[in-house]
Amino acid sequence: MGAEFERLRAALASVREECALVPRVGIVLGSGLGGFAERIDVAASLPYARVPGLPVSTVEGHAGRLLFGRVSGVPIVAMDGRVHLYEGYSPADVVAPVRLLGLLGATTLIITNAAGGVAPRLEPGDLMLITDHISTLVPSPLAGPHEAELGPRFPDMTEVYSPRLRARAHDAALRLGLVLKEGVYLQMPGPAYETPAEVRMAAALGADAVGMSTALEAAAAHAMGLEVVGISCITNKAAGLSPAPLSHEEVQAVASQAAEEFEALLSRLIALA
Ligand code: HPA
Repeated sequence: MGAEFERLRAALASVREECALVPRVGIVLGSGLGGFAERIDVAASLPYARVPGLPVSTVEGHAGRLLFGRVSGVPIVAMDGRVHLYEGYSPADVVAPVRLLGLLGATTLIITNAAGGVAPRLEPGDLMLITDHISTLVPSPLAGPHEAELGPRFPDMTEVYSPRLRARAHDAALRLGLVLKEGVYLQMPGPAYETPAEVRMAAALGADAVGMSTALEAAAAHAMGLEVVGISCITNKAAGLSPAPLSHEEVQAVASQAAEEFEALLSRLIALA
């Protein structure tokens, strides 16, 4: 058995001692979405620090706990807080929680984040369904000795973001009367926001939005066979596209303003997923 799978099995055993609920849907709550906890009929709340092998988030606005419960009757587990490469964690650490969600039984993974808009059509407050991603600028969580329990050596990445779930997300948005845009997400290493030249590079590479998470989690979950869907909250125009400097406070403030719509969309998507 590989070292990573071994570590995850230990985490799984410890979580199972605390909560027997088998989730169908896993959710990663990005910046500003902590309030989604109130939409969950919570059965158990488990701080990451209590689970051996799980990394603990150090960023303001990212609590660190697994929430088990039901949304619209669907058994779910939510990651309230995630860890990032820029905190000094390895790619394997970054994806350990989503892999754990898969081992807990989730077959669908909904990933959310806050992102900067690169495409001029994306405005602060917009919700963007991720159609594809670019992760080439950050190290892969799949590098290292192959662990067959966590997926094939050479996973196909043609459809990381499930066309079926993307259609369900559009259905959910339509029913709520929300505009759901679409685009390609580029994961940057952070923690600095991009320079204007890097944002022009991102545009030239085909990105519509930039952020510091998500692609690695999506890649690891997809490799494990989970059906993945990702949604970004565009919190700002990326550097150089607006005269204002970027700040974490602004990102959090816009994410909080958009949270109610975002949470409604998530709830509806869970019911349809
Ligand atoms: N760049 C990177 N990450 C982000 C941004 C951004 O402009 N906004 C929110 N997260």
